[in-house]
Amino acid sequence: MTTPPSAPPVGDAPAASLAATGVTVHFGGLVALSDVALEVPPARIIGLVGPNGAGKSTLFGVLSGLLRPTSGRVFMSGQDVTALSPQSRARLGLARTFQQPELFMGLTVRDHLVLGHRVRYERRRFWSDLVSVRALSPPTKLENERVDALLELLGLARIARTPVAALPLGLARLVEVGRALATGPRVVLLDEPLSGLDVRATENLTAVLERVVASSVDGLSLLMVEHDVASVLALSSKIFVLDFGQLVAQGTPSEIRADPVVRAAYLGDSDAIAEPGGVEAVGADRAVIAEGMGEINRNIVAEHGLGPPR
Ligand SMILES: Nc1ncnc2c1ncn2[C@@H]1O[C@H](COP(=O)(O)OP(=O)(O)OP(=O)(O)O)[C@@H](O)[C@H]1O
Ligand SMILES: [Mg+2]
Repeated sequence: MTTPPSAPPVGDAPAASLAATGVTVHFGGLVALSDVALEVPPARIIGLVGPNGAGKSTLFGVLSGLLRPTSGRVFMSGQDVTALSPQSRARLGLARTFQQPELFMGLTVRDHLVLGHRVRYERRRFWSDLVSVRALSPPTKLENERVDALLELLGLARIARTPVAALPLGLARLVEVGRALATGPRVVLLDEPLSGLDVRATENLTAVLERVVASSVDGLSLLMVEHDVASVLALSSKIFVLDFGQLVAQGTPSEIRADPVVRAAYLGDSDAIAEPGGVEAVGADRAVIAEGMGEINRNIVAEHGLGPPR
């Protein structure tokens, strides 16, 4: 058996869809991450939690390629991607959503999923759509089939023709998830998908996320940063806990609930973690959707390295 020299040790297990080893990030004198390792196996929902300033977003930046670590490596399915750009990682199957939905005001729910598909599979058309008109060029048969299936899966078929500007935050988040999924990813990084959602919208989105992973034939995984600890514990098969840039715990939901270090460092003596579903979302930023909309979507463009066609 030959193992690529760059691959992390995986024993007999299949390579993790996404993994980080020894990740350290210094911002000047501040150590934002210190020797952090994390694995996202195929077909799993993995949680990443920790108090404000723990380093969660920094780790997302390192995983997605927007941030170069001081040291450490990132792997996708065993391939060392540490030196690869965000857009190269996107092409290898890494997608993400943002805390504030970044949607195109004038486009419908369906258009967003078509765009997601196009950004991965028809980059040239995607760019011409962005620069030319408010309406997309007509989808191909393949695009239509894939997008229709996704709309059904996400429960968005009923509002497929609705402009996103008219949507409440919970549905806008679903559209963001849908657009990420339309790129055909192996792993989706979700940045606080539940923040600002009420109980009903939270239940709906968590049910959809579970369904999406369970129904994936490609072993899709989600890595979720989230302050709503109860939802993370309910959804995730494994949770990583960061505090002051260090991984202070990792384990199954029951291990995390019982972990004295976690309780002391992060969760305090909150009864909430013993009672799944008992916590109110404490997302730091209850952003109004309008703030994230209306502009050309900087992030998706940056993420996929899109520039004017040559
Ligand atoms: N670009 C930067 N320059 C300097 N310091 C930074 C930068 N980005 C983050 N930090 C610092 O690194 C630490 C980790 O920040 P990070 O944003 O990763 O935390 P977080 O866990 O995402 O917190 P939150 O839950 O508030 O989003 C913090 O002390 C933060 O102030
Ligand atoms: Mg953050």
